[in-house]
Amino acid sequence: MQDWQRSVIYQIYPKSFHSHAGNPTGDLLGVVAKLDYLQWLGVDCLWITPFLRSPQRDNGYDISDYYAIDPSYGTMADCELLIAEAGKRGIKLMLDIVVNHTSIEHTWFQQARSSLDNPYRDFYIWRDQPNNWESKFGGSAWEYEAQTGQYFLHLFDHTQADLNWDNPKVRAEVFKMMRFWRDKGVGGFRLDVINLISKPADFPEDDTDGRRFYTDGPNVHEYLQQMHREVFEGHDLINVGEMSSTSLEHCIRYSAPESKELSMTFNFHHLKVDYPNLQKWIRADFDFLQLKRILSDWQTGMQAGGGWNALFWCNHDQPRVVSRFGHDGEHRVVSAKMLGTALHFLQGTPFVYQGEELGMTNPGFDHIDQYRDVETLNIFRLKREAGASDAENMAAIMQKSRDNGRTPMHWNTEPNAGFSTVEPWIGVPANAQTINVASQLDDPDSVLHHYRRLIALRRSEALMSDGVYRQLLPEHLQLWVYVREGDGERLLVLNNFYGSPCEVELPDDVISETMAQRLVISNYPDCPSRNRQIFLRPYESFVLHLTD
Ligand code: GLC
Repeated sequence: MQDWQRSVIYQIYPKSFHSHAGNPTGDLLGVVAKLDYLQWLGVDCLWITPFLRSPQRDNGYDISDYYAIDPSYGTMADCELLIAEAGKRGIKLMLDIVVNHTSIEHTWFQQARSSLDNPYRDFYIWRDQPNNWESKFGGSAWEYEAQTGQYFLHLFDHTQADLNWDNPKVRAEVFKMMRFWRDKGVGGFRLDVINLISKPADFPEDDTDGRRFYTDGPNVHEYLQQMHREVFEGHDLINVGEMSSTSLEHCIRYSAPESKELSMTFNFHHLKVDYPNLQKWIRADFDFLQLKRILSDWQTGMQAGGGWNALFWCNHDQPRVVSRFGHDGEHRVVSAKMLGTALHFLQGTPFVYQGEELGMTNPGFDHIDQYRDVETLNIFRLKREAGASDAENMAAIMQKSRDNGRTPMHWNTEPNAGFSTVEPWIGVPANAQTINVASQLDDPDSVLHHYRRLIALRRSEALMSDGVYRQLLPEHLQLWVYVREGDGERLLVLNNFYGSPCEVELPDDVISETMAQRLVISNYPDCPSRNRQIFLRPYESFVLHLTD
């Protein structure tokens, strides 16, 4: 087992983490200032979303210089200090690498657009006529470039031009840049939408949005193996690929050690269970059975195939999980703890997104002026043009917008939740007064202390990393029950996903009176029901270690 298979990774969205300089946006020194907190929490590694030079149209996922720190985040010296100070605390730093595309302000694109025979022209993807592929942020995936009379491909915003990975010079430049950061001392990479880098040469189309043609595309495994040889081999790095609309088969290949590609993969299938017919921008409840089915299929499938999952509920592109699959009213604390337990006992490497460990909620912004995200603003405009009412538009946005997860971290009850001394770039939810680090540090029953226990358990409970996953009661409409099994022992993980109590009987090969029992963690102060007949209170969740 590799170290990172027993690790917990914490995700920082630096724009909203902490502003040391007292600006509307956070900075790298703000992260340095909070390293003691992160060490106390017990995480092994930080994934920091992009802080390289960028026009910030997509909050740093539109990089214009891979070798420079964006001035809003600080300087290269600040970055070096962060790597060193994190290292002193035993914490690695994972750099977020965005190489499916660059900003159109990158010099490569500036060169490429200037003439048809510019040496950089072939760094990007140009066509005389667009096909019908759609941008993931709405509208066509092709933008006309008047100066040279061709269209360039952008799977995201029209200011994020897709790189042409079939050009060996592009790959050489990307690997060189990654070696630069590796040699600066980063402990690994998070690779943004990395399964989209290989497009079929003939750009086929049908009546879909085109994703099936370029997702896990023809040469993607070959390019990742080359990256492995040229950047990772012989170095102790954690490399996580973000995989958009991927498949289990491909994720096994991306992450199985013998493929020599990546350490682990993120996929999003379990976060589409509230997208009716895969339509994101419709307000809808989540489908609990589907959630269990998808996560269980990925658990057993990845384990059988020798792959490794990156486990997560939240990130900077997702709403807050307690508002999504839990209860952000009276059951907030208990349901946030339940969700933490349900995720952390799965096989894979858990990721905690800033504020998740506090049970932060969606902010409930009900006016479009409160939103900043390019995807949200594009969709609002496109749906309005298509005739949707603002009320219908806002209902979906309040539930689904990426800004739900991007509001400033709640540190304390000072102005702006202690995030900055000036008004932040995006609003601070009113509940920061009650949900914040300072108050939870003092409260051993807080969501924060529960997460700290979950993180520590990964080191002491070996079955959390290597136990075999088996789901029980797959059709149960309110409980997610699973075991992680080893030789003659198991962890039994019970989670009530709803606000009503519930009783079930478990099979006696899982739990019986002759087995030795140990309570590993629970989200209620007591845990009375520890036999085959289990009674769970609202959102109750607990884990028993059982030995035959
Ligand atoms: C990834 C990022 C997201 C970004 C997109 C385009 O999905 O997580 O924030 O907008 O890629 O780079």
